[in-house]
Amino acid sequence: MAAASPEHPSREEPASEVAPALVCRGLDKRFGATVAVDGVDLEVPRGSLTALLGPSGCGKTTVLRMVAGLSTPDAGRIEIDGRIVTGRGVAVPPEKRNVGMVFQDYALFPHLTVARNVAYGLTGLSRSRRRARVAEALALVGLADLGHRLPTALSGGQQQRVALARALAPQPDLVLLDEPFSNLDAALRTTVREDVRAILHAADQTAVFVTHDQEEALSLADRVAVMRDGRVHQVADPQTLYTRPATRFVAEFVGEADLVAGRRAGRYLVDTPIGRLATAQALDAEQVTVVIRPEALRLRPDPQGAGEVVAISYFGHDQLVQVEVADGRLLRARRGPRLDLERGQRVRLEVDGPVIAFADARQPEPAAA
Ligand SMILES: Nc1ncnc2c1ncn2[C@@H]1O[C@H](COP(=O)(O)OP(=O)(O)OP(=O)(O)O)[C@@H](O)[C@H]1O
Ligand SMILES: [Mg+2]
Repeated sequence: MAAASPEHPSREEPASEVAPALVCRGLDKRFGATVAVDGVDLEVPRGSLTALLGPSGCGKTTVLRMVAGLSTPDAGRIEIDGRIVTGRGVAVPPEKRNVGMVFQDYALFPHLTVARNVAYGLTGLSRSRRRARVAEALALVGLADLGHRLPTALSGGQQQRVALARALAPQPDLVLLDEPFSNLDAALRTTVREDVRAILHAADQTAVFVTHDQEEALSLADRVAVMRDGRVHQVADPQTLYTRPATRFVAEFVGEADLVAGRRAGRYLVDTPIGRLATAQALDAEQVTVVIRPEALRLRPDPQGAGEVVAISYFGHDQLVQVEVADGRLLRARRGPRLDLERGQRVRLEVDGPVIAFADARQPEPAAA
């Protein structure tokens, strides 16, 4: 890790003394009647990798573009390393923000060599400094020997690394990556992801990447901001996001989840079609929706069981068993590779650990007297 200095504060310093790499406050952006971004608040700690996760059209790219200065918000404030770059009458142009950007299509110049692509954003440096910086950036992404090639003579994964090297070469405060892996085929994507994470960590680089792939967000990011319809629903580390989703949307969008209706049976107890379950948080509402994760659902053969096996999808390393319960609802159970259940079999259902429950908006509580 870099030694503590004004440019590279160590992670051990108290958070209060170090401004986050990026702060967004109350960002709004409309396109005509479309509300693309609606009151987005976001803080990105220095040296961290944050994912902006959400379905298509939820405003992820619009947020990145506003941070980069390529688009102007209708309201709100953006600070990079403690300096206001947007808002309060300030509008710092993109090239003065010290932000690197990697676009989905990499946007490499096809007629320039790899080295000249990487050198492109390096202004105000002597020739020798610039050459050194290019070599450093190419070494960082593992392409030290390919500086003379044209981008068209590179694989997709290599082009992706050139784009990353170009973004890193000016030593930006912040790197923004918009769907950086979506152009790669599935086999390559996993290795390139890991490489990119290692490169960013090695450079102690703060970065924000956009994805609509929840697995990608969970496996790569230190923190994930989940967006829907222009709003941030939750910002948390992957485990908190998965085990303590703040909203029903987050519960369903991040990981696999089946929902069942529940009725409060105690402060931490809920009655459901599959029996009484313990809840992770205290229940206030009478009617709730309970989240069941497939890996938490245990099935045991039982002729008197509450469920019936209706489908089995076998994947080798595991299997997904669909069970129909009392109200016709289907629940999924993820189990190991042993095929010990069959279709039509009755099973008893048990849930490992406490469940998450949300107050059910569709069945409002009785109005207070
Ligand atoms: N320049 C524009 N003009 C008009 N509408 C726009 C413009 N840019 C974005 N939008 C709209 O704003 C909303 C958010 O778009 P944005 O590109 O930020 O979504 P996204 O989350 O990046 O989606 P995707 O995952 O598909 O890339 C969408 O409804 C989109 O159609
Ligand atoms: Mg987008």
